[in-house]
Amino acid sequence: MIASNRGPVSFSMSDDGTLTMRRGGGGLVSGLSEVARDGDLLWVCAALSDGDRGAVRLAPGGRLDRAFDAGPVRMLDISPAVFHRAYNAVANSTLWFVNHLLYNTPFTPQFGMRFRREWESYREYNGAFALALAEEAGPGSRVMVQDYHLTLAPAMLRVERPDLRIAHFSHTPWAPPEYFSLLPDDVAVEVLSGILGSDHAGFLTTRWAEAFMDCCAVFLGARVDRESRTVSFGGRTVRIGVHPLGVNGEALRARAAEPDVESHIAAIKDMVGDRKLIVRIDRTELSKNIVRGLTAYREFLAGHPEWHGKVVHLAFAYPSRHDLPEYREYTAAVQRCAKEIDDEFATEDWDPLILNVHDDYPRSLAAYRLADVLLVNPIRDGMNLVAKEGPILSRRCALVLSREAGAAAELGADALLVNPYDVSGTAAALHEALLLPEEDRAGRCARLREAATAFPPRRWFDDQLAALDRC
Ligand code: G6P
Repeated sequence: MIASNRGPVSFSMSDDGTLTMRRGGGGLVSGLSEVARDGDLLWVCAALSDGDRGAVRLAPGGRLDRAFDAGPVRMLDISPAVFHRAYNAVANSTLWFVNHLLYNTPFTPQFGMRFRREWESYREYNGAFALALAEEAGPGSRVMVQDYHLTLAPAMLRVERPDLRIAHFSHTPWAPPEYFSLLPDDVAVEVLSGILGSDHAGFLTTRWAEAFMDCCAVFLGARVDRESRTVSFGGRTVRIGVHPLGVNGEALRARAAEPDVESHIAAIKDMVGDRKLIVRIDRTELSKNIVRGLTAYREFLAGHPEWHGKVVHLAFAYPSRHDLPEYREYTAAVQRCAKEIDDEFATEDWDPLILNVHDDYPRSLAAYRLADVLLVNPIRDGMNLVAKEGPILSRRCALVLSREAGAAAELGADALLVNPYDVSGTAAALHEALLLPEEDRAGRCARLREAATAFPPRRWFDDQLAALDRC
């Protein structure tokens, strides 16, 4: 069984009450969907919208497969107020910001009565998952719990069903103890001991796994054995695993060869002509560091007039989590910054920057295929699959990559690594990337492609199952 906040499908409801089903979005969902498609498993997820809630009410026991042509999915109808507090306030505004070191951006930590109510909802939300999993799981089943939304569910589930084998996987970075200590002590303890309710706790890189183990030692006084990667706490020993997630290159290449992508390629070529193309593709999210990335491009243009008219930056900044004001404000900041660049440099026949703020997957695949340089500069990122997808779809793109992205552990040797806060350093890396000789960039790109496809979702998932079986 898989448990995650967002599920493989979502529903929208039209004014006359008709429900339309679509695939759920995001890296976690696309990776796991590929696994779920050819596996024999049940996926437990939350209803995220009114459309989802409408669908749940039509589905006996919340089992969508019995009412819609979805895979085996059980969607939980958690009350909108509880869901909002658990998802937006705790998961996305607290745990996400702690693990991505994003405090003192627009966020300033303050844990008072309001947070306590939100925390109570987060508990309730995790409890609803634990209960549903306990109901659905056959004897001795394996349950794979995903991400920071569900840190408490493993321990809660173990109380209900000690026979199950439980894994938790974190798709985000993990904060070092000095940063994790922003959380109230009891919350820090509950999060860590919640995850330690599993038999196996997985992370995308060694760095995040070690940070988690450090937190367990500091906040729980747990016994950590770094050699065997185990944490002993409360009379149990939990194995810590490192499982980098990669891309199914074949499937991605096939999708990127479809006619809708080809027609975007023609349109982009029309716009860009024979100019060099710098591409970035992100959700508009503070950890993605889009404003600093655009500012680096601006510094690059200011410092290199010889490139004026010869380069275009195509930036995709897709809407994300717009229920939160901080995300909406960030989108506005990205747009302001893009306008300033345009005002400063655009000429009658040259648009230095084209910003896309609407979801357009086929267009972004076309951009990957045409990129000369791919800029991926997050402040911190669990992995970052954009850094892996680019080299799979392009034979010659140079990768400018933040050293703080999990992907840097696998791709660092062939990327141009940057400090994400160092705007001038990033501007210099963009310049260096544009000047990389053809042969050098092709060689790097081939090695990046190999690394990017080493752990496609199926293998990533199977490795975790095997690790869980060895616990
Ligand atoms: C990204 C992160 C995942 C996270 C997901 C949630 O893909 O890498 O760790 O689960 O976002 O996104 P959502 O849109 O559901 O808030």
